[in-house]
Amino acid sequence: MQIWMNKWLMVFITAVLFSGIGFAVHADEELDALVKKCGMCHGMDGNSPSAGIPSIAGIPEDYFRHTMDAYKNGGRQSELMKSFVHDLSEAEIRLLSDYYLKQTYKPMKQEFDAEKAKQGQALHNKYCIKCHENNGKISVNNYGILAGQGMAYLRQALQDYLDKKRRVNPMMITKLQKLIDAEGQEGIDKLVNFYASVK
Ligand code: HEC
Ligand code: HEC
Repeated sequence: MQIWMNKWLMVFITAVLFSGIGFAVHADEELDALVKKCGMCHGMDGNSPSAGIPSIAGIPEDYFRHTMDAYKNGGRQSELMKSFVHDLSEAEIRLLSDYYLKQTYKPMKQEFDAEKAKQGQALHNKYCIKCHENNGKISVNNYGILAGQGMAYLRQALQDYLDKKRRVNPMMITKLQKLIDAEGQEGIDKLVNFYASVK
């Protein structure tokens, strides 16, 4: 997670951790306070300004809930996200998932290598399309959004699955392993360039 961390972000995080969210009486105020807190990393509308942090605009309720549970129970090991979600109540999670579902996802504008992206498309079709159809845009299976996520985030997430810091359908790990056996780390690089290229 070093990729995006900088001194100012640390200062920010510390400030937020100590400020708490207060005793908002109305759901609107409560949502407002929560969205401000999450928004300093994920963007106020859920579109992340940083390549190391995922965008969460437009993500399906199921997937949102699933990731909240995973950060709480260690299915995804991120101390950072754990610190932000461990005390969220059911009602707060519902407010947040409704809010982000209503926001429009905007693919991040990034520099990518067109040749790698083209090769990445073929690898995606071979190894990943079964569960991440539609070029990694929002999937019918609700497996998150790959297209237009920050490249640094995608690299980190894939490494975390391989390092078992994220739990996932074992078939995905099998496919990732096959990809790496056949293509090496370059295979990952090509895929990441491909997802960055999808409009
Ligand atoms: C200090 C920065 C920061 C803050 C504040 C923050 N997040 Fe995150 N969030 C991250 C990072 C970094 C990740 C990726 C973690 C990982 O590697 O799994 C993440 C991941 C997520 C994901 C998973 C996205 C995906 O594509 O799988 C969701 C959903 C999410 N955060 C929601 C929230 C919510 C809701 C809040 C506020 C309660 C919040 N985050 C606050 C940095 C932050
Ligand atoms: C058998 C189904 C399956 C296959 C095949 C599969 N995935 Fe996944 N993928 C999933 C599931 C389920 C999730 C959500 C897991 C979670 O909770 O972290 C996921 C999540 C991801 C994420 C994290 C998204 C985010 O927002 O954090 C990335 C990146 C990803 N997959 C990439 C790939 C790539 C690249 C391939 C091909 C090499 C692939 N997947 C093949 C099922 C699959």
